[in-house]
Parts: sequence; structure tokens; C-alpha cells
Amino acid sequence: MALEGLLAPRKTLPPSLFYDEEGCRLFYRITELPEYYLTRTERVLLADIGPTVAAEVGPGAVLVEYGASHEEKAGFLLASPGAFQNYIPIDVAAPELVRLQDRMARSHPAVVIQPVVANFMRPMALPELPNGAAVLGFFPGSTIGNLDPDAARDFLIRARVTLGSEARFLLGADLWKAPEVLIPAYDDAAGVTAAFNRNLLVRLNREAGADFDPMAFRHEATWNDAESRIEMHLVSLRNQTVRFGGATIGFTEGESIHTENSYKHTPERLLSIARAAGWVPRRQWTDPAGRFGHFLLGQD
Ligand code: AVI
Repeated sequence: MALEGLLAPRKTLPPSLFYDEEGCRLFYRITELPEYYLTRTERVLLADIGPTVAAEVGPGAVLVEYGASHEEKAGFLLASPGAFQNYIPIDVAAPELVRLQDRMARSHPAVVIQPVVANFMRPMALPELPNGAAVLGFFPGSTIGNLDPDAARDFLIRARVTLGSEARFLLGADLWKAPEVLIPAYDDAAGVTAAFNRNLLVRLNREAGADFDPMAFRHEATWNDAESRIEMHLVSLRNQTVRFGGATIGFTEGESIHTENSYKHTPERLLSIARAAGWVPRRQWTDPAGRFGHFLLGQD
């Protein structure tokens, strides 16, 4: 898949490749950067709305988190005593889920933890749930923004099928705002996001025998207004060739590899995607500056 993207007329690499061990470490550092307001804004928002969401869903519910390599965000919902009896974290990384389960056995002994190792971009099944329990799907972190609108809709359709016709869904997303705020969040002064982006090439060298010179590519974050998204690119600093997977790939100076999209929707646009997937908007909250939103969705 990586080779296919590099042989295309407009070169791309799949963003799923970001998250090897070093990529996860760098992403964690990104979430702590002064320019990357997303994580701390969402944290404060969730701490604020957690009890309200828990009350809306009712006692003894099941919390199903998509992309849950850490329980920190779910913790804001699980903090309401008696609200959730089961927590089902879903992630592709089995070792992370084992560590999560260990930590939670100590921090939340009353909650039944049922990790599911799965790629939630594909159809998947949940473990058997307690009879009659309310179900809340949870997709925080603005990962929905890394999907193009059609893929986001398809994900939300699959979630409805997986969670059942009575389920509700809490969706967290970074919202549309001025590029002057967005660009630094994806091109920080300390160069952590640049290292995160270049780590794709380091990974292809190590795991797939490619011979990229990562420093011969410049990190670039641009705002695509027509698509309402931040794009990350790696731009070749010179004419060069790279050997990878039995092919020789040529780059001209200034040619880019498109590595990630981060869509920034308005609440209206995001909710129209949710509606197209069959969800019904019930409530919504943003931080006071309107940077980040959480959207509670239900079904008729
Ligand atoms: C995981 N995801 C929500 C991040 C984002 O903001 O799109 C990934 C990221 N890429 C660069 N910085 C952070």
C-alpha cells in the first residue's frame, strides 16, 4: 500500500503508518505542545460535560471507545459512580490494550473491562453485552477529522450497526477555525510534528528496506480551504531517487508526499455527516472559545 501511493502521480503515504512505537511517542509529545490546543481543550471539556453525559445515558451502561489505546478520556465518563458497568476499548494495538486493562483493574475495580483488538474501519463484533444495558459509543480525540467525509459517514454507519439500534454516540472533534491557529498546531516551533511526519520515512527504511534520506524532505502543513482541512506533506528538498520495494522512485525538487488530512468541520457540517449515517443529533457542547466540540448522537 505504501509503494502504491509512492508510485501514484501525486505521491501519498497512508497515515496509519504514523503509529509505530516512535510515532506513538512523538504523537504523545505533540499532544503536550503549546501550539497543539486540541488535547488539553478536549480534556477540560470532557471533565465539564462527563457527569451530564453519564446522566443522559443512565446507570449501568456500556461504554464502547473507538481507538482506545489509553483510558484517560473515558475516565471523565467513568468518573460518575455507577454510570457505566462495562467498558469496551477497541484498538488495533493488542499490547496497549493489555496495559490499559491492567491499569484499569486497579483504578476502576467495579467496571468490567472487555478489550477488543480490531481495526474499527472494518465491520466488527462486540462481546456479549449485559441484557437491556444502555450503550454509548465514544470516539474522542478528533480522529474523525483524519477521515474524509465519505469515510467518516461510513465509519458512523458501521458504528450504528455494531452498537445496535438503541445506542447513543459521543463524538469529539476539533472544529473549523482560522488557519493562523491551525497551522502552528501542525507545524510547531520545536519541530515535533516535523519529526512525527519524517518518522514515516524512517519507518519505511527500517521495516521495508527503503533508503530515504529523511532530512532531504521538509515537513509542510498547509490549509486547504476548499476541502476545509489541514494537509501534511513531506516535500523533497532536491531532485533525488529512492529505492523501495524493488522500485526506484524519482522525486523532483519541491515534489511532495501527501501524508495526512485533518478535516476541520463546522458543527453543522459534522452533524450533516452524522445525519447521513443515520444518527440524530441530541446535544452538543464546545469549549468557551468554540475550538473543540462534543456531539451526543442518538437514533429514532
Ligand atoms: C490523531 N489525530 C487526531 C491527529 C490530528 O490532529 O489530526 C494526528 C496529528 N497529526 C499531526 N498532529 C497530530
